[in-house]
Amino acid sequence: MKNIAIFASGSGTNAENIIRCFAGSKAIKVAAVLSNNPKAGVHARVNKLGVPSFVFSQDEFTEAEPIIRKLKEYDVDFIVLAGFMNKISEALLLAFPHKIINIHPALLPKYGGKGMYGMHVHEAVVAAGEKESGITIHYINEHYDEGAIIFQATCPLEPDDTPEDVASKVHALEYAHYPRVIKALLL
Ligand code: GAR
Repeated sequence: MKNIAIFASGSGTNAENIIRCFAGSKAIKVAAVLSNNPKAGVHARVNKLGVPSFVFSQDEFTEAEPIIRKLKEYDVDFIVLAGFMNKISEALLLAFPHKIINIHPALLPKYGGKGMYGMHVHEAVVAAGEKESGITIHYINEHYDEGAIIFQATCPLEPDDTPEDVASKVHALEYAHYPRVIKALLL
């Protein structure tokens, strides 16, 4: 059995989707969710599916030792970021080499980097008049949104699409592909 930890800071719809996809799997289990945000919707979402969630402060994420202890407690093999708005520390990267992935709601290297998250990304894509957007699943390294790309998928945009329209197209791609890519990396 491979144990996954999901790191999430927001609503947690991707976390919920991943948990539901692996429910009943004998090979992969979402063991725990870690967050920097006690108010995030992700807690209620995952707790009702029987997955425990834990909150750590910004300092604890930076220090990494408390995080690594919790991950060891749950025998975690692999870390999946799903709307996690905090930098991954070097110590955590060293403890989980090549075992931390992220999903970004655009086609990197465009619309990545510091400050480019959630709706900010979709607003920038619409403002630039892009004809397509999509998702990028990539490994985490020491720079925001610059780790090796594992998978991308695109969706066409219409001239009158709002940032909310783009978000919903991108979310649909995330739900369709993130669990599948996680499974391919783990098995
Ligand atoms: C997702 O669209 C994810 O790609 C994005 O935040 C959203 C979280 O939604 N992540 C980033 O912007 C990271 N730079 P969710 O909480 O409903 O899963």
